Amino acid sequence: MTGLRIIATGKQDASCVVTNDDLAKQVETNDQWITSRSGIRQRRFAAPGETTSSLSIGAAKAAIRSLEAQGRSRREIGAVLVATFTPSHLVPNTACLVQEALGLPEDLLALDLNAACSGFLAGLRLCQGLLEQTPGRLVLLIGAEVTSRVVDHTDRNTCVLFGDGAGAAVIAGDQDRPFWWSYGTRGNETVLSCPGIREDKGLPGPIAMEGKEVFRFAVEAIPTGIRAVLERSGTPLEAIDWFVCHQANSRILAHAAKAMGIPMERFYMNLERYGNTSAASIPIALAEMEEKGLLREGQRVMLAGFGGGLSWGAAEIIW
Ligand code: UT7
Repeated sequence: MTGLRIIATGKQDASCVVTNDDLAKQVETNDQWITSRSGIRQRRFAAPGETTSSLSIGAAKAAIRSLEAQGRSRREIGAVLVATFTPSHLVPNTACLVQEALGLPEDLLALDLNAACSGFLAGLRLCQGLLEQTPGRLVLLIGAEVTSRVVDHTDRNTCVLFGDGAGAAVIAGDQDRPFWWSYGTRGNETVLSCPGIREDKGLPGPIAMEGKEVFRFAVEAIPTGIRAVLERSGTPLEAIDWFVCHQANSRILAHAAKAMGIPMERFYMNLERYGNTSAASIPIALAEMEEKGLLREGQRVMLAGFGGGLSWGAAEIIW
């Protein structure tokens, strides 16, 4: 089984910073409620003209800069996967536009995938097979969303939680770095949904969510996913250097940390500045951690995501 390694990362922030106080001018809410219930202080929304494609291209450019700084070439990329539930177009998919904008080889697989907030984990799992099929080629995996375009900005239950952005990772096969994953789905149409094309109305959205149900699901799914991975890898919990989880709610992560007896300092958190960027949250966090020099070669990193589907996933990687 091919192992894998993330060899470059990048991110593209959406341009508009929206604070809790800004939202309090729009709906019946306040900074104290949002901060205490979710941990979110601000989020970023796409400016006019910014799209899932443009954010994906920006994040991919940053990751490619880092790849090329290592003396490697974008010509090595054999697949582009974009995890998103908010693509700019149904056709062409986002990945094709990334291929064109970055001058990537034409003989590559360019695919969008939708597993909502678990999208980056789903993509990583696919990467393993792709790397095995095309030895020597790299995979560019992007998570990108413009949730602000499918949120009902009059619904305080959802509009305060979500944000926009993109993160990218270049992934190489590496026999010395085994990769362990777990992934699961529990089909449910009502707890967390975002309608696509409908008979009555062409436009997608808005996001509808039973917050408490999703909360309950997440605090169960994160430890379940992580424990399944650790069982496969045989790695003791204490040997994991970083837990990089989907950034939806700091209370969800605090619950999961407590249930597993992990100190919160080992959880990387940035949701106070980004809100919930769905499939983009984990790659944005990884890119930010690299920028800060927090990720060192050989460290064990546990990724965990959960969300609409319902779906969840976890993966242990060696940096
Ligand atoms: O990627 C996965 C995506 N989703 C999630 O991760 C969401 C998971 N769930 C959550 O994060 C939390 O359930 C929420 C943050 C959504 C809500 O927190 P909660 O502690 O579960 O609050 P609640 O739903 O029990 O709401 C408490 C009250 C309600 O008022 P009443 O019915 O008790 O009078 C809500 O109407 O807070 C009210 N409320 C608000 N008040 C001020 C709901 N949204 C707001 C708001 N500002 N934005």
